[in-house]
Amino acid sequence: MASDIYREGRLGSGVLADVVNYISSYSDDVEIFDEIVKINMAHVIALHSAGYISREDAAAILRVLSSLEPGMLSSMPKMEDAHMAVEARVLEGAGTPGGNLNLGKSRNDQVAAAIRMRLRSYLVDIIGSGAALGLRLIDKSRELKEAVMPGFTHLQPAQPVTLGYLLLAHAEEMLRDLHRLVEAYNRVNLSPLGAAAMSGSTVRLNRHALANMLGFKEVLRNAVDAVSSRDYMIESLAAMLSLALSASRLAEHMVLWSSPEFAYIEIPDEYAATSSIMPHKKNPVVAELARAKAASPLSSLVAVAAILKSLPYSYNLDLQAATPYLWSASKDLLSTLNVLSGAVSGMRANRDRMLRDAQAGFVTGSDLAEYLTVKFGVPFRAAHRIVGRTVRRAVDEGAQWGPAIRRWLEEYAAEEGYEVRLSDEELASVLDPVEAVRRRGHVGMSGESFDAAASELESKMRHILSWRDVVMEELKKSQSILEERARAIMEVSRHGDKGPVQ
Ligand code: ARG
Repeated sequence: MASDIYREGRLGSGVLADVVNYISSYSDDVEIFDEIVKINMAHVIALHSAGYISREDAAAILRVLSSLEPGMLSSMPKMEDAHMAVEARVLEGAGTPGGNLNLGKSRNDQVAAAIRMRLRSYLVDIIGSGAALGLRLIDKSRELKEAVMPGFTHLQPAQPVTLGYLLLAHAEEMLRDLHRLVEAYNRVNLSPLGAAAMSGSTVRLNRHALANMLGFKEVLRNAVDAVSSRDYMIESLAAMLSLALSASRLAEHMVLWSSPEFAYIEIPDEYAATSSIMPHKKNPVVAELARAKAASPLSSLVAVAAILKSLPYSYNLDLQAATPYLWSASKDLLSTLNVLSGAVSGMRANRDRMLRDAQAGFVTGSDLAEYLTVKFGVPFRAAHRIVGRTVRRAVDEGAQWGPAIRRWLEEYAAEEGYEVRLSDEELASVLDPVEAVRRRGHVGMSGESFDAAASELESKMRHILSWRDVVMEELKKSQSILEERARAIMEVSRHGDKGPVQ
């Protein structure tokens, strides 16, 4: 039986190893160790600024804190959590002054702050990697803006598009996800510090100064809310999930289009694997796993929601169990975005094959029906029927989608009482998928409007990257303010000056 620094008062017995193992968050606390240390440093500075502890005492504690590394957790006997371990180390290293480390602070506001800080870093990375993937998609779409292929609905040939246009659609979808993540970031970056266990404390600390030193934008006003709330986890995981789902749909297209049945794209060899027995195989393994790993934020979201559901205010240890789901989801998403970026860049398209399918798949059927309406005044529902019958006849007779269908078209139109006369060139132009794409310039599918759509999207992606840069800069700045203030206390105290360092 071991003892620990919190149990010596209220709890008489030592602690059972099995129980510590069961309740300890040690293995997950490695993620937030650096954040815990920074929060403690900021807290010590705030205690000193408010006159609760002397400069010497603050300096003694800060010296121990600045020497701590996450590796210490594995070299120490297991405790409830890293918060306790850090305090134990401070008591050990700084002696009696270390006993004031948790004056006006609890593990409850501390862990809430640490999670928000760590999640903040993951969100910044995910947003950066997501925008980088978006930019790769835009580059690729420009390269393939004229690569005509059939577009699908119900996975049946529908209307002509270009591969570039479809890739741009993926980038549009991802842009919205990135905006969702930025929104989530703004609600994550709020400071719970000062809330202490649940209702604040009698110790009057400058909550805004504390928040500033740790890079938080604002403080959470209500102390109960500050320690109880984890809705930012739900929001962040939902935004991550949305991006992961977008990535999984892109990945699915890569799997589908690279199969020999489609053979529209070739995935770079570096992003594929082969079989141990079938020497001919080229498997799109990266895309397959990108598809599967979308399950990670989904399952994390469900797990966190299940933990939060009906949980009473304020802190409950159930909350500890929710935290690791954030890290697994973040890591899985981040690795997916990074690896897909490379796969997208190296992807090559088989333009001939795509065009051939576009020519063979009746994908200009709706263009033809619209032509009958616009040019010959056939009401669209009748035109739809006339073209539908024509396609059916062509399929039955094994005829090509070209001049051969003209007589059936004219015949069925006549049966409905409409006179339709088309020259061969006119018909060829209406049926040609390449021209059909050009005729859709107004929806950004071709020509200048494609370029304009791609440029607008690119500048929005770049805007996200600049947002990321600004945020990183601000975080770095607050980090150096924290370090600077800690250094000032430690240095001045060596020279024996006793007043508070502001
Ligand atoms: N290990 C805890 C967590 O991760 C820290 C807070 C513990 N608070 C407490 N009163 N036991 O949530």
